[in-house]
Amino acid sequence: MTTAIIGTGGIGSAIARGLASGGETLRLSSADHESARKLAAEIGRGAVVAAGNRDALRGAGAVVLALRFGVVKSVIDEIADTLTGKVVVVPSNPVGLDAQGNITHLLPEGQSSGEVVAGWLPAGARLAMAFGSMSADLFKSASNRSPQPAALFYVTDDDRAGEEVERLIRTAGFEPVKAGGIGQSGRLEVDGDLHDLVVGPAEARSRVARG
Ligand SMILES: NC(=O)c1ccc[n+]([C@@H]2O[C@H](COP(=O)([O-])OP(=O)(O)OC[C@H]3O[C@@H](n4cnc5c(N)ncnc54)[C@H](OP(=O)(O)O)[C@@H]3O)[C@@H](O)[C@H]2O)c1
Repeated sequence: MTTAIIGTGGIGSAIARGLASGGETLRLSSADHESARKLAAEIGRGAVVAAGNRDALRGAGAVVLALRFGVVKSVIDEIADTLTGKVVVVPSNPVGLDAQGNITHLLPEGQSSGEVVAGWLPAGARLAMAFGSMSADLFKSASNRSPQPAALFYVTDDDRAGEEVERLIRTAGFEPVKAGGIGQSGRLEVDGDLHDLVVGPAEARSRVARG
């Protein structure tokens, strides 16, 4: 199966490596073509660099938008007409860094990245929020844990997106655990009770249920 990854920075490169190690074919693009080209070369077989963001979606069933929250809308607008029927997976947290390097919140309290991104997508795109619930370092160290895989949370309102994101999460070496619909996205994001949590599937399901 082929997945597009737009954005090859901290989390995009970690997701790309995780998916490639599970056998996924990848089409990569980034603002800096060289960064996508280097990552594709490092991954080797199965990863190609696309000519641009729109080209990344060619032949892909899903796209991961591994972008800072502030550029997600402009990239969605750029690729909007290619998204019909596609599963759109978004790891973006609504945070940025100020001039001193401190974390700043980009949305009012109580509003989640997932709810806002859902409003930016064209009709026909199938959104799942996933792969942003832990730091890139935790994501790398927690993948392919044995004997029991670590859980990776996701939220979606779309059954088809749920099936596809579960497949991608398993491919990356985790057990998928649904935390609800897009309205629950804040639980996965920075400051959410399910963020940066490395637990097994049973504990993960129990935490979801506890709300
Ligand atoms: N890093 C983490 O540990 C982590 C963990 C969980 C969730 N997240 C979330 O994931 C999102 C991305 O974080 P990050 O740390 O990966 O950021 P990052 O390292 O800055 O990577 C962002 C990537 O997006 C690319 N990009 C920017 N504008 C673009 C455009 N118009 N078209 C295509 N690509 C574009 C950047 O390319 P250039 O470098 O050329 O600008 C860069 O490769 C954030 O919302 C963050 O909250 C991050």
